[in-house]
Amino acid sequence: MSNRFKLYIKNAKQVVLVCNNGERFLTKEGMKNLSVIENCSLIIGIDGLVKAVGPADSIDSRFEGASFENVINATGMCVIPGLIDAHTHPVWAGDRVHEFALKLAGATYMEVHQAGGGIHFTVTHTRQASPDQLFSSLSQRLTRMLRSGTTLVECKSGYGLDLDTELKMLMVIERARQSLDIGISSTYCGAHAVPKGKTVAEATEDIIKVQLPKLKEKMEQGDLRVDNIDVFCEKGVFDLDSTRAILQAGKDMGLQINFHGDELNPMNSAQLGAELNALAISHLEEVTNGGIAAMAKAGTSAVLLPTTAYILRLPQPRARDMLDCGVIVALGSDFNPNAYCCSMPMVMHLACVNMRMAMNEALAAATINAAYALGLSQSHGSLEVGKQGDLLLINSSRWEHLIYQFGGHQELIKYVIIKGNVV
Ligand code: NIG
Ligand code: FE
Repeated sequence: MSNRFKLYIKNAKQVVLVCNNGERFLTKEGMKNLSVIENCSLIIGIDGLVKAVGPADSIDSRFEGASFENVINATGMCVIPGLIDAHTHPVWAGDRVHEFALKLAGATYMEVHQAGGGIHFTVTHTRQASPDQLFSSLSQRLTRMLRSGTTLVECKSGYGLDLDTELKMLMVIERARQSLDIGISSTYCGAHAVPKGKTVAEATEDIIKVQLPKLKEKMEQGDLRVDNIDVFCEKGVFDLDSTRAILQAGKDMGLQINFHGDELNPMNSAQLGAELNALAISHLEEVTNGGIAAMAKAGTSAVLLPTTAYILRLPQPRARDMLDCGVIVALGSDFNPNAYCCSMPMVMHLACVNMRMAMNEALAAATINAAYALGLSQSHGSLEVGKQGDLLLINSSRWEHLIYQFGGHQELIKYVIIKGNVV
């Protein structure tokens, strides 16, 4: 073994491993009992992977005489895995602050959408924006997320609804993946709304016969990497049959299924996700008991989005019922022009206060379970030997301050570390 390492984090007050048995996800019992070590040190190798983690004394003697590119004295601080945001829409032009005012005055999300605003407003502006403009705003947003502790983020397309703009958005996400520190899982969301002037059947056919084959070609040529497929399965948007057809076509070309379901109306999206062996379904404010049971049985994770329920004053996602039934619960910010939130600490706070999750549960949902929702929990989401060295140093002697404090997280997060590099 080489005697050179990238990073030595010395003597942290607490290190929250999240899990340490190689679990790919945690359900209720595991989330309750997160693995925490007091007075702990951690070593990241030159390859950016965790090499060792354990009691400070034993790490000190084991690595005596080794050389490190960087040493951080973490006395009085806590270490947690980097936060993972399992649901965002970060590529767009045209904010909707004017619609926030309408919604505060009583308009519903669907009233604004059906009047041609909402997603349609953002689509008009995103179609007109250049790739450079989109990249510039995307990198600013991802940098804000990173400063708030997000080290891996899911990024959707979906404000194009036509082949050219969807590809433009996915290429911008690809550019970010290659040039920014933050980790990215990319999602094709061409079925985010039915484009103006098209029927659901026409839009579905365009996605399956035109957009997905072109995407496949680009992926095979190595121009683009896309990880997931998404559909907004909702009354007045894509119904259950069109959602099934689009998701199945995406799955057939190797994409992981991760879609919007049961948000504003019960659609049986959860049952559909279970039937298709989806990796994840987001929202689920209106999920039924049968849907919860089906997801638990299929191992389909629930990506809950407390910002959306908060902003739209929807019923809260039923986190407790899902946990009680054994569903794998993850969290996401849903960053988009409707829910303008870049901060996973705020998301965890809302999950605890409004969805009645415990702080341990919220952290597991924003780390190992969010990694699972993206199909990346073998390499991300916990501080275990062999996993990617993505972590946060919290300037507090108890990690829970990250959730307890309401805002101001950028001061609390002393260092964000990705692959062993301070970023
Ligand atoms: O997850 N519900 C559908 N999609 C987004 C909102 C997108 C938008 O309004 O621009 C969501 O909340
Ligand atoms: Fe969304």
